[in-house]
Amino acid sequence: MLSEKLLKEFNDQMKYEFASANYYLAMAGYCLDQDLDGFANFFKVQADEERFHAMKFFNFINDAGSRLEIQGFEDPKNEFSSLEEVFSFALNHEKFVTSRINLLMDIAVQEKNYACVSFLNWFIDEQVEEESMFNALLNKVKRIGNNDAALFLLDAELAQRTFTPPAAE
Ligand SMILES: [Fe+2]
Repeated sequence: MLSEKLLKEFNDQMKYEFASANYYLAMAGYCLDQDLDGFANFFKVQADEERFHAMKFFNFINDAGSRLEIQGFEDPKNEFSSLEEVFSFALNHEKFVTSRINLLMDIAVQEKNYACVSFLNWFIDEQVEEESMFNALLNKVKRIGNNDAALFLLDAELAQRTFTPPAAE
């Protein structure tokens, strides 16, 4: 069983992960509107990953013998002025998620709930990768600037991204 405090934070985190999927789908929508199908594919795959994260919380809460609760969330940001804005928004969002995971870990450690600590370790590692990936892409997009040839090369590269659930790797 999760303590009342951990259960609330775990249910909230499941909400944030589902909300993240919507944020990234909204970014995919912006990219499609800009005829950047590769970038759109990248964000659609990112949305798949976020739903996978949400379902990890869904399953863990239930496996821990606690009551999961699905919550609504605010509309995502749909309007962007540039790809740079998209990626800096995404990076900031991932930093927020990292702070959330750290908060959950703090509580799990305080409560000596080692099953939660073990579960959250996967997310601690995952957030390092997420921030690093968005940081790298933000830098690339900044350097590309108005160079269409370079932009289409990166678009073609991002068209290759596919979603593989970690368990199947
Ligand atoms: Fe996530």
